[in-house]
Amino acid sequence: MRTLIKNGTVLSATGASAADVLVDGETIAAVARPGVFADDAADTVLDAAGRYVLPGGIDAHTHMEMPFGGTFSHDTFATGTTAAAWGGTTTIIDFAVQAKGTSLLSTMDKWHEKADGNCAIDYGFHMIVSDVNDTTLKEMESCVSAGVSSFKMFMAYPGVFYSTDGEILLAMQKARDTGSTIMMHAENGIAIDELAAQAVAAGRTDPVQHGLTRPPELEGEATHRAIRLAKVTGAPLYIVHLSAAQALAEVAAARGEGQNVFAETCPQYLYLSIEDLAKPGFEGAKYVASPPLREKHHQTDLWRGLRTNDLSVVSTDHCPFCFNDQKQLGANDFRAIPNGMPGVEHRMDLLHQGVVAGELSLARWVETCATTPARMFGLYPRKGVIAPGSDADIVIYDPKATQTLSADTHHMNVDYSAYEGLEITGKVETVLSRGRVVVSPDGFSGSTGHGKFLSRDLCQYLN
Ligand code: URP
Ligand code: ZN
Ligand code: ZN
Ligand code: ZN
Repeated sequence: MRTLIKNGTVLSATGASAADVLVDGETIAAVARPGVFADDAADTVLDAAGRYVLPGGIDAHTHMEMPFGGTFSHDTFATGTTAAAWGGTTTIIDFAVQAKGTSLLSTMDKWHEKADGNCAIDYGFHMIVSDVNDTTLKEMESCVSAGVSSFKMFMAYPGVFYSTDGEILLAMQKARDTGSTIMMHAENGIAIDELAAQAVAAGRTDPVQHGLTRPPELEGEATHRAIRLAKVTGAPLYIVHLSAAQALAEVAAARGEGQNVFAETCPQYLYLSIEDLAKPGFEGAKYVASPPLREKHHQTDLWRGLRTNDLSVVSTDHCPFCFNDQKQLGANDFRAIPNGMPGVEHRMDLLHQGVVAGELSLARWVETCATTPARMFGLYPRKGVIAPGSDADIVIYDPKATQTLSADTHHMNVDYSAYEGLEITGKVETVLSRGRVVVSPDGFSGSTGHGKFLSRDLCQYLN
C-alpha cells in the first residue's frame, strides 16, 4: 500500500520546504521535489496543497487510567490515544506508576496489560519510581533493557509518590550508571503540605487555595535542588511540567553551564492562569493540577524559554478527571481534588496558535512537539521527522482552518474542556499512523489495537 502526499509544505525542526512524500507500507519511502512522483506511483494520493505536512506529534507526558487520590484518570488507553490521534499526536509516552511496596517489573507488566491491544497510536512508557530500595534500584537496569529508559520521581506528594533527597540521589546514581534519564516533579511537597494544612485550618478550602499554597518559589527551590543533585551524581535530568519563571531561571542557569538539564512545559501553563483556578462556584476545580496554574506574567517567560530552548519540549501532562463526579471529591477540601487536567487532543493546535501569535516559529513548533521529544526519549529517527526510513506518522495540517475548542466536540473522555470556547486558527485534517490513515475529513478510521509498544533507546539529546 503506497500513499503519495503531494503539493504540501513539509515541515521539520529546521524549516519548511515544498515537497512530496511517498509512503510505502508503514514507513516513509522518499521525500522529493514536488512532481517527482507520478500519481500512479501510489495507491492513494492525498492533495496537501495549502497545507503543512509535519511529523506526527509526540506527547511525552500522559496519564491514561492513572490511579490518583482514590480514583482513576478518566481516559483509558483506548479513548485517550484516539483523542490524541484526532489532535495530530501519533505517539504518547505514558507513565507506569509504581505503588509503594510493589516492584518496577510487576508495574511494567501491569501497564503493558492495560495498553496492549488498546491503543490507536504507538506508545511507550516512563516508570514512576515511588519506592526506592535495593530491588527497585536493581530493577531500573531491567527497565532500561526493556525499553523504558526514563524514570519519574517526585519531590511533591509526601506519603504517596514523594522521595527524599537521599532516595533521589540513589536513583540518580543508577540513572547515571545505566545512561537513563531522571524526570523530576519539582515542587517542595513538604513545605506545600504545611501551607495547605494551614489554609484548611483557617477555613480556606476552595480550589484557588491549591494555587496559593503551592507558590512558584517552591517550584524554583525544588528545581534548584534537583539540578544540584543531578550535578553531583552526573545523571541527565528532565524537569517535567515546568510552570514558573523561578524554575525556568534555574534550568537556564544550569544549561548555561553545559549541564545535561532539560525541561518541558505544557499548554495549560502557556494559556491558562490562576484566575481560572479562582473561578467561582467550584469551577476552579477544573483547573487543579500540579504545579498549579500561575499568574499570567509567567507565560511571557515560558514562551521565551520555548524560543531559547531552555524549554525543549511541550507535553500535555494529560490527566483528566470529570468535573461532575471526580473533581467533586474535593468539594469541601481542595486537597482532595484529583490533580490533573485534560489536554492530549489540543497540544498541536494550541502550540500552532503560538505560531499564529508570533511567539514561535514553525520550525520550533515541530521541534518542541515532535522532533525533540523523539530525541529526548530515544525514538529518533523512527519518530519525530519526515525522512526516508522513518515511520510514516504524518499530519496534514490546515493552517487557515478555524475551530472552537469545546467539550461538545472534543474526543477526550471527560465532561469539560479547559479551553471551552477558545477559538483556534489551524486544524488537523489528516493523520497517518505508520502509513495508515487514522483521521481524515471523513472522521476517525483508525482502530484501538493498531498502536504498538515502542521500546525506547537512551536519551539522544545529551550535550
Ligand atoms: O496534576 C498533575 N500534574 N497530575 C498528574 C500527575 C503529575 O504530577 O504529573
Ligand atoms: Zn508531576
Ligand atoms: Zn504528569
Ligand atoms: Zn466519571
